[in-house]
Amino acid sequence: MTETIHYEIDGSIAVIVIDNPPVNTGSWSVRKGLLDAVEKFTQDDTLIAAVIIGKDKNFISGSDLKEFGKPITPPELPQVIEAIEKCPKPVIAAISGATLGGGYELALGCDARLASENTIVGLPEVTLGMLPGAGGTQRLPRLIGMGKSIQVICSGKRYKSQEALKLGMIDAIAEGELRQFAVEFAKTAQKNPLSNKTVEKDESAEFDAIVKKALRAGKHRPPVQESIRLIKATADVGFYESLAEERRVFQQLRIDEEAFARRHLFFAETNAKKVINLKEAPIKPVKNIVVVGAGTMGTGIAVSALKAGFHVTVYDQSKSILVQCKSRIDSIYEADITSGLIKTEQRDVQLAQLELSDYKSAFENADLVIEAIYENLAVKQDLIRKIESIASANTIIASNTSYIDLDEIAEVSLRPENIVGIHFFNPAHIMRLVEVIHGNNTSQKVIATAFALIQKLGKLPIICKNSFGFIGNRIYAAYRYQCELMLEEGALPHQIDEAIERYGFNMGPFAVGDLSGLDIAWNMRKANAHKRNPEARYISIPDQICELGRFGVKTQAGYYSYADGKKQIDPVITKLIMYASEQKKIVRKEFSSEQIIERVLLTMANEAALLLAEGVTARMNDIDLVMINGFGFPKWEGGPAYWASRQNLDELYEKQKALAEVSGSGFIAGDISIFQKLAKTA
Ligand code: NAI
Repeated sequence: MTETIHYEIDGSIAVIVIDNPPVNTGSWSVRKGLLDAVEKFTQDDTLIAAVIIGKDKNFISGSDLKEFGKPITPPELPQVIEAIEKCPKPVIAAISGATLGGGYELALGCDARLASENTIVGLPEVTLGMLPGAGGTQRLPRLIGMGKSIQVICSGKRYKSQEALKLGMIDAIAEGELRQFAVEFAKTAQKNPLSNKTVEKDESAEFDAIVKKALRAGKHRPPVQESIRLIKATADVGFYESLAEERRVFQQLRIDEEAFARRHLFFAETNAKKVINLKEAPIKPVKNIVVVGAGTMGTGIAVSALKAGFHVTVYDQSKSILVQCKSRIDSIYEADITSGLIKTEQRDVQLAQLELSDYKSAFENADLVIEAIYENLAVKQDLIRKIESIASANTIIASNTSYIDLDEIAEVSLRPENIVGIHFFNPAHIMRLVEVIHGNNTSQKVIATAFALIQKLGKLPIICKNSFGFIGNRIYAAYRYQCELMLEEGALPHQIDEAIERYGFNMGPFAVGDLSGLDIAWNMRKANAHKRNPEARYISIPDQICELGRFGVKTQAGYYSYADGKKQIDPVITKLIMYASEQKKIVRKEFSSEQIIERVLLTMANEAALLLAEGVTARMNDIDLVMINGFGFPKWEGGPAYWASRQNLDELYEKQKALAEVSGSGFIAGDISIFQKLAKTA
């Protein structure tokens, strides 16, 4: 036995306790200890059954991901499960808390799965670039059928005990104390290994639709495709043959580039959560939130806060705007009810916490005000004055500004230490990413409070220093500009968009521009024209498109035309772009998809290096999290900083030199060696 496994006897039952703090991951010591314990139990004729149980909250929260990038030290999990299945006496999994990945596969290897009410089960391997490699793809279909297994495995979703019971993933929820319930159950349990069961072939249209949906949602990535292939094989390939094939594929996938990238993101998120030690940092209690501005962002922010159980007042200038906002909030909730995300009673409880007001008195009891009003400095400053004249001295004021200097907003404040940026992404009730902006005077307590609040909203807070565009919009602006340069040099919008979409983004920059409206950026360019570097290469194509009244989808024309609602290449734009090149005497050249992607990645990495040098963020991992969670960078590529950290540095320098030349004198080169240095210490 190892120190993480305790072997206890309860009458005629062996109780094998997993004790690997803090969260009971399935490390080598757990596997070895379990194998020893199962062998000991098998040989002890005085015992009739065994129960495997977690010591504290979790059964096994998942495998130790650090093991997956290198050779795994035996015994591996399949060996432990094989010993359980081959043991002639029943072994019962008494599961609780997080029972994920290898933890749930271990439970599938047992003869029954009994759960406590707090259990969460799931097989998230696909989201980590792998697949369940210890029998998950073979045993789960034998328990719940092929269709449901595809849904569970390909989504990587986690299921609470009641839902898991309905799906058949667990056999029962314990009445009373789990250990006692399991021991009682074990006394009369029978041997019932899933490997003995057969799976019925499913050729229904419904099954076909499940497969197609899973492939689409999983972007046809190898882990999803392979999972489906293996799950389908349960109907016509022998259990052990298919089990060996599953292991072979798992061993391959876990050392593929995708799995490394996804592990990088997993650890990046785990570390992002620890950036502020909330147990130590003082936090202001927040109960009442006032959202100012009942427009696009205010509505989404209000819904997020309501769902997290806050009392929310939405304040705007007129009753009619508030009425429209309420109807948008109702529609969001209605859609959630229709798709089964929330129950009517929950909606009613949450909506009972909502108030809508056009009276300044709304600020009186606010713990935190989030402003999402027009993107205009003077208007935002006026609002700060107004709030401070009414609210208490402790009230935190958060701005959702995209581009305005937070310190300029805070200049009019009586208490600039209470001013913070909380930059949500659209749609705010769905997007996980929120940048938390540290102004020059923002207090540490206010930052910690904002950080904790965003976590309470179930979102991902990333802290950065006040700077134009913060992390995400700054990198996005550099990337879009680089794409505009390529238009002038020879590419067309659809070629760039297609290359970027093939790489894995949901949409290319020109399609995004059309969707969000080209006039917003146009107005900003006009307003900031005096700040522009006269030396920098200026691309007038976007301005010319706007001058034609083409603002994107809303005017049925932008970079593309949308005459009958469908996006189409527009010869007018092709001509306009050709003419722009001609005017500057640029000889247009062909771009391959690879050239487009390389330039995009290099641009993002270069801008990220500048952000790190300027101290906007100190963490390269945060840059990847921002681009992935806010801008659709494909997860399986790990993010632009990760990409740069994996390149040959000499080649990267060469490419950066070429990028500088082609971009012209406005280009500022960042120190792109930084990523490899930081990756070593991450
Ligand atoms: P919006 O135009 O949809 O809504 C703004 C709302 O603010 C309107 O309902 C307006 O009546 C209200 N308002 C304006 N001045 C006010 C005042 N003094 N007092 C009370 N209410 C006032 O704007 P949107 O798109 O929601 O943007 C709001 C803020 O969020 C801006 O700072 C914007 O830069 C930022 N943002 C916008 C994103 C987007 O995709 N729309 C994404 C992230 C940030």
